[in-house]
Amino acid sequence: MTINISALAGLYGSHLDTIQARHDRALEKAGASHAVIFSGAPNRVFLDDYDYPFKTNPHYLGWLPLTNTPYSYVVYTPGKKPILVYFQPEDYWHKPPDAPSGYWVNFFDIRIVNNVEAALAHMPESRDKTVLIGDIDDDAQAFGIERINPTAAMNVLHYARSVKTEYEIECMRIATRRAIAGHKAAEQSFRRGASEYEIHMDYCRACSHTENELPYSNIIALNENGAVLHYQYQERNAPSESKSFLIDAGARYNGYAADITRTYANDDEFQALIDAVDKLQQKICNQVKAGMDYRALHLLAHRKIGDALTEAGITTGSTDSLIKNDVTSAFYPHGLGHLLGLQVHDVGGFMAGETGVTIDPPPGHPFLRLTRVLREDQVLTIEPGIYFIDMLLNNLRDAAGGKQINWDVVERLKPFGGIRIEDNVRVQANGAENLTRNAWAKT
Ligand code: GLY
Ligand code: MN
Ligand code: MN
Repeated sequence: MTINISALAGLYGSHLDTIQARHDRALEKAGASHAVIFSGAPNRVFLDDYDYPFKTNPHYLGWLPLTNTPYSYVVYTPGKKPILVYFQPEDYWHKPPDAPSGYWVNFFDIRIVNNVEAALAHMPESRDKTVLIGDIDDDAQAFGIERINPTAAMNVLHYARSVKTEYEIECMRIATRRAIAGHKAAEQSFRRGASEYEIHMDYCRACSHTENELPYSNIIALNENGAVLHYQYQERNAPSESKSFLIDAGARYNGYAADITRTYANDDEFQALIDAVDKLQQKICNQVKAGMDYRALHLLAHRKIGDALTEAGITTGSTDSLIKNDVTSAFYPHGLGHLLGLQVHDVGGFMAGETGVTIDPPPGHPFLRLTRVLREDQVLTIEPGIYFIDMLLNNLRDAAGGKQINWDVVERLKPFGGIRIEDNVRVQANGAENLTRNAWAKT
């Protein structure tokens, strides 16, 4: 995959301007003068001498495309060139980070340190006017700064972060292309009857990711495993018959995530249901635009799922009654989607503003993670689904909704597990850019 680095480089300066402006505002709201952003520290495995995979603080990644530089700090004072305290230990057990290089270096006053204590010399002198942003679990990492992740500052940053800069969107486009290469390889593996484990390995190879570099653990589910929403295993043996395949798998670039789901089948009836979910998913994607309340889109998805269930002969009765009797919630028991960015479930999905006031999900929809009115350049997922989950369907057996379910059809489709179709879309003034479908069509 070729990446146009000079295009990214051209966008980075204005991205950094936006990040700095957000920190200016966060500092103002917190009544502080300096921000120190910690990249993070690896966590050690209990009773052993190696670390869990390192996950960088997303606030640090917003400043820099450095996904693997623990114990480093951005030190920012409004109006001044940001300082990067770059930790490059002298270590013969591990390979230290390379010397800083790339399109971002000229934007920083870079200070290389060889041990953690040496970072002290580069911290703002007035500690009481400084806020520290990061996951600190050792006082030694805070250098006497006591205001750690103050709510007033964090709310400003978290509310703002849903709106992506052009640079961020370009990173997400690259992550998307990478993920799609994996998805295409995974479909081929499914078609040749591979096991979940083999499909997973083929996916990782095609997007050139190690397991730890993925933005979340792949969901690679054959047959009835597709009914487990966050199915976490990879069976080593292929089933005797691979009837269906649900894959929810992403990729990253400079820390930015893609989060994509597709479902495939070797059966006409289940394929028709997949096609119906695909069609309704695209209709919902086409409703996305600035000013739209995401809660309304989620409720619209329930209507469309109700229509699709009846069209497929799985349910009977009006769509209103299917919703009222919790039938659509049993077949579609999760939210329509979430904000996406440096985290697969990016922060701020419930925020009504930068003061921290939140917006509840609609009654009866506790799993919806995005309740905001959409704004231009937010990136979010649209991921409706239909699943055959015994636990939820059985709850309806003796209820009014149970009488609306054709249980023989459910029995017939249960071995196929479930369906989810997930795209990543960028909100625009009068519509949306579907990052996933645009890239899929070009690869
Ligand atoms: N991959 C997790 C999700 O779609 O939310
Ligand atoms: Mn998702
Ligand atoms: Mn997903």
